[in-house]
Amino acid sequence: MIAYRNLRVALLGAGSVGAQVATLLTEHHDELASRVGAGLDLVGIAVRDVDAPRSAPLDPALLTTDAMSLIESADIVIELMGGIEPARSYILHALNSGADVVTGNKALLAAHGPELQAAAEQVGAQVYYEAAVAGAIPIIRPLRESLAGDRVKRILGIVNGTTNFILDKMDVEGDTFENALAVATELGYAEADPTADIEGYDAAQKAAILARLAFHTDVPVEAVHREGITTITAAQVSQAQKAGYVVKLLAICERLTDPETGVEGVSARVYPALISRQHPLAAVHGGKNAVFVEAEAAGDLMFYGAGAGGIETASAVLGDVVSAARRHVAGGPGVAETTHANLTILPIDSVSTRYQITLEVSDAPGVLARIASLFSEHGVSVEAVQQSVASVGPDAVAAGTPDGSGTATLVIVTHIASERALSRTVAAIADQKVVVRVESVLRVEGA
Ligand code: NDP
Ligand code: HSE
Repeated sequence: MIAYRNLRVALLGAGSVGAQVATLLTEHHDELASRVGAGLDLVGIAVRDVDAPRSAPLDPALLTTDAMSLIESADIVIELMGGIEPARSYILHALNSGADVVTGNKALLAAHGPELQAAAEQVGAQVYYEAAVAGAIPIIRPLRESLAGDRVKRILGIVNGTTNFILDKMDVEGDTFENALAVATELGYAEADPTADIEGYDAAQKAAILARLAFHTDVPVEAVHREGITTITAAQVSQAQKAGYVVKLLAICERLTDPETGVEGVSARVYPALISRQHPLAAVHGGKNAVFVEAEAAGDLMFYGAGAGGIETASAVLGDVVSAARRHVAGGPGVAETTHANLTILPIDSVSTRYQITLEVSDAPGVLARIASLFSEHGVSVEAVQQSVASVGPDAVAAGTPDGSGTATLVIVTHIASERALSRTVAAIADQKVVVRVESVLRVEGA
């Protein structure tokens, strides 16, 4: 039963996601009207070039380059252009014109989320952004609404499809980083410039958004510690496999206490880490995303699915459009989100986790004992050590052992230790003459 006037929906952007949103809004018009209690009329689509080819057939009469006039005529504005400007100004204009806003723009939300939320609150409107993190996967609404009565302890997320595709291909097929990236680009997972994916910027934006919601605290994207996957080698992936681990680029948001200063706060970080092959996140293959949430009362929850793709992401956008439309029909303020906790944002040094350190050392008596003593001197407890011969004879001289006695590879896994203690230990180890090189230091997560 439709009793309310039809709502006017403006779409900004008709690219991979926008074109699919336009199609679904049109094709599902009657069904959506029944769910909302009002018709949702797509009144225009703002683009840069009205003549550009589209991935879905769109009514040419809807296309316009005059975004401002379109915004002013709408009850709901869907922003799917991407980038900071003019998206930010358009959204502010939409809110100030009395419209609710739906966006998938993680870059904008990570950089200007508090400003947009404040503008929305001031005029009693809402900003919905389910599509901004992990594409089709419902994770914003669960954090903002379903878990609003619980306390989130930690979030471990695979939130970038490109990097998961690359690392999975290296793990499953023994592929190199370069080849895997080329395939990811060919398949359209990676951005046109994949730096945002492989250097972890995209995941860091998503981590900032998740941490804000989970811990009711503004987390600027600049405060998210970020390391990408460009240094991960096929050898590291294969060694991880032998040790029962898989390498994943993780976005981690956690409430913790700095072990040295006692300061309580929030840590948000992105880095490649080892996780046990038994952990649910290890089963996330290809370009898929998953977010693992540990909450005080609810326990462990996992959200899994497509983290990108036009039609998949359009599903999340449409869910938000329905929420926005229902709010119009029912009235009232909609779902609030708060930053009341205002926790301290802790630096990476405050984090404690487990580590895997791979060293090439002289294969000589007393070396293992010396390395072990350095761990103990710095308060880092060793959980396991594995040694294998790395080089002998002329290879050993080339590798840097002056007497040609040969080198050995030591793979050391620690118990939980602080980043500070671990950094001091690694620095002391690197200073030893018997250490040819520190091959890698990887964190071990998910315990
Ligand atoms: P595209 O680059 O495919 O499309 C962008 C669209 O915005 C184009 O239609 C473009 O117009 C239009 N546009 C860009 N700048 C302007 C402007 N100044 N004025 C008017 N129109 C403009 O982006 P996507 O569809 O891939 O992504 C849209 C948003 O969704 C981004 O914020 C992205 O981060 C987010 N997102 C995307 C996902 C995906 O899988 N693609 C997944 C999750 C989120 P024209 O066509 O004329 O050039
Ligand atoms: N390039 C992003 C990814 C798209 O690989 O996950 C979705 O945000």
